[in-house]
Amino acid sequence: MTQLIDSYRRKIDYLRISVTDRCNFRCQYCMPEDIKFQDKSHILTLEEMLTFAEACLALGVTKVRVTGGEPLVRRGVVKFVGWLKELGFDEVTMTTNGYLLKENLEGLVEAGLDRINISLDTLQPEKFAFITRRNHFHRVWEAIMAALKTPLSPVKINAVAMRGINDDEIPEMARLTLRYPMHVRFIELMPLNGDTDGSRFRKLFVPGEEILERAQAELGELHPVEKEDPAAPADEFKFEGAPGTFGVITPVSDPFCARCSRLRLTADGKIHPCLLTDLDVDVKGAIRSEDPIPAIHEVLWHAARVKPAAGTALPEQSRRRTMSQIGG
Ligand code: GTP
Ligand code: 5AD
Ligand code: SF4
Repeated sequence: MTQLIDSYRRKIDYLRISVTDRCNFRCQYCMPEDIKFQDKSHILTLEEMLTFAEACLALGVTKVRVTGGEPLVRRGVVKFVGWLKELGFDEVTMTTNGYLLKENLEGLVEAGLDRINISLDTLQPEKFAFITRRNHFHRVWEAIMAALKTPLSPVKINAVAMRGINDDEIPEMARLTLRYPMHVRFIELMPLNGDTDGSRFRKLFVPGEEILERAQAELGELHPVEKEDPAAPADEFKFEGAPGTFGVITPVSDPFCARCSRLRLTADGKIHPCLLTDLDVDVKGAIRSEDPIPAIHEVLWHAARVKPAAGTALPEQSRRRTMSQIGG
């Protein structure tokens, strides 16, 4: 089999599919409150997304992550996870805000979902409502607790670190790993939400190193955990005897572009070779063509060729798309 590689000899074996740009939350770091979602007529069907995934599988892509917006608001997404597993991917995972998770857990497990990442930026209900602009902390927390009782345990928790908003909770969030089999990861804020002069970003940004120091100051030494997947973005650590791990994802202070293995498909049929650059490659035409697999392969090789060596997290760089449109 031919393996998809890019111009810098990076193996591309990880596809992230954003099944919808819609979301039932309005997280401040992700989208403006009055966001306009795309007209449904521009969105690929799940069958079309599956055709794209099939073409990727034939070029050595082994892992798929289903993202959004919020993936669970898309009708049929549980069935879609099952289709991806049946196609033969080694690993099918999902990143969700957890709001619709509890009622979908059984279906997702049956469909063969391998792992789940849930976003949770705070343990305080009022702050949760401030950050996500929706008052749903308890519902998300219950879903996390329920997920821990399924084969999807241990779950990964994503928290975006923001100075003056949730940085005071770094030790409390880290403490969760002493009690539960959770992989808690703080993500450095990326300037992706129309913040063109970067002022918001500069005010809120907390570097990963500081996050680790503040957790250790309160809870003791963190020991590095060896990565299962060397391309994974998170640096993970463990407190002595803890069932879970604590880590940081540092796209800004210590970018992991050199080991990037990812391509992203947006819901409207564009390949994003890099999260941090606007560059996109249209693949909708190829997916809808008469002989789609070879047509998609041609576009995939082009997307791999133009994948930049590194993205840039500079806030001054204006970006057309919000995080919710690319899927994180
Ligand atoms: P696994 O290691 O497979 O669990 O995946 P993951 O950690 O990439 O999954 P998740 O969707 O939870 O990603 C966490 C966050 O890391 C994303 O939402 C992004 O904020 C960031 N991230 C992931 N991949 C990239 C990337 O290629 N570039 C940049 N700059 N950030 C990324
Ligand atoms: N910076 C860093 N991470 C972000 N996410 C969304 N927007 C941003 C941003 N501006 C993360 C969320 C979610 C994932 C899909 O993307 O925490 O877990
Ligand atoms: Fe929705 Fe996720 Fe963006 Fe929050 S981060 S608004 S949950 S897509």
